[in-house]
Amino acid sequence: MIVLGIESSCDETGVALVETVAGGVPRLRSQALHSQIRMHQAYGGVVPELASRDHVRRVLPLLEAALADASLTKDDIDVVAFTRGPGLAGALLVGAGVACALAASLGKPTLGVHHLEGHLMSPFLSADPPEFPFVALLVSGGHTQLMRVDDVGRYEMLGETIDDAAGEAFDKSAKLLGLGYPGGPALAALATHGNPEAIALPRPLLHSGDLDFSFSGLKTAVMTAMTKFGPAPTGQQRADLAASTQAAICEVLVKKSLRALQETRLSRLVVAGGVGANTRLREQLNAAGARRGLRVHYPELALCTDNGAMIALAGALRLQRDPSAARMDYAFDVKPR
Ligand code: KG4
Ligand code: ZN
Repeated sequence: MIVLGIESSCDETGVALVETVAGGVPRLRSQALHSQIRMHQAYGGVVPELASRDHVRRVLPLLEAALADASLTKDDIDVVAFTRGPGLAGALLVGAGVACALAASLGKPTLGVHHLEGHLMSPFLSADPPEFPFVALLVSGGHTQLMRVDDVGRYEMLGETIDDAAGEAFDKSAKLLGLGYPGGPALAALATHGNPEAIALPRPLLHSGDLDFSFSGLKTAVMTAMTKFGPAPTGQQRADLAASTQAAICEVLVKKSLRALQETRLSRLVVAGGVGANTRLREQLNAAGARRGLRVHYPELALCTDNGAMIALAGALRLQRDPSAARMDYAFDVKPR
């Protein structure tokens, strides 16, 4: 079975084709991706209307490219999976509309996929795929969650952020440091020149005894530190603050993940979502994992941020478990929240 996946929840248009494998993990046949980052950079963040319009422009050429790359034609597609949410409503509607129109024209079913389930399953496309059950640390621009995952669709929420997401903390702190969008990678790059212990920043909820997170206080602390530097902070001051901010976010993510593993008595951690690309987070989780005999799995770096492959994969995994999950009515809707 060939599953087409279309992702358009935010600022990346992603199209991919996976092929199911009997008794195994679906195989990625091809993928095509267009990032809108450069378009939004001039505005310092994602402009929803521009995002929707650009998805409209990109999605069909990307589909043609993905099909050509896999030496397939539209008629080879068995199911069209698309991101149903969460995300920007207008952006989601582009992917959902294209998916349902294409499926209707082919007489094939559609399947709406949860964007976070896409992130969550993306490590299965890596060279070192995890096995169920595992603890998942989902860290994206909009979500920070720890989950127990027993199988596709069998999730138990262990803890989540009560305010900002980890990616949001990176992005907002980066903005305060005068860095561009997207802030996470920019802050991480600046942090390589700084001392992570230079500035004392809060580790919110680190000792709360539960698995929840809170990051909104961190940006206030970053703002206070910037104010103390005065109107013209030196390059070193900014790098030290970037390094200290990254250290604060990573320490909380690492300690809470370890706690979740301890509480569930599981020995596998899966890290997914854009912040999972962060080098310090990976180094610290790997080191902690090695010390405690835990396995830590990540998506390939290119699949950490939004892409079509994870949506095609999540769709295919769902269908393997429940073929009736696909719909033939083409009455699509999206779930922005
Ligand atoms: O998963 P994702 O691509 O989109 C959402 O579904 O939100 O995550 C985007 C987030 C942004 O906040 C971005 O700044 C952050 O992931 N991010 C990073 C890194 N790469 C992306 N944060 C820290 N370090 C990185 N290397
Ligand atoms: Zn995402």
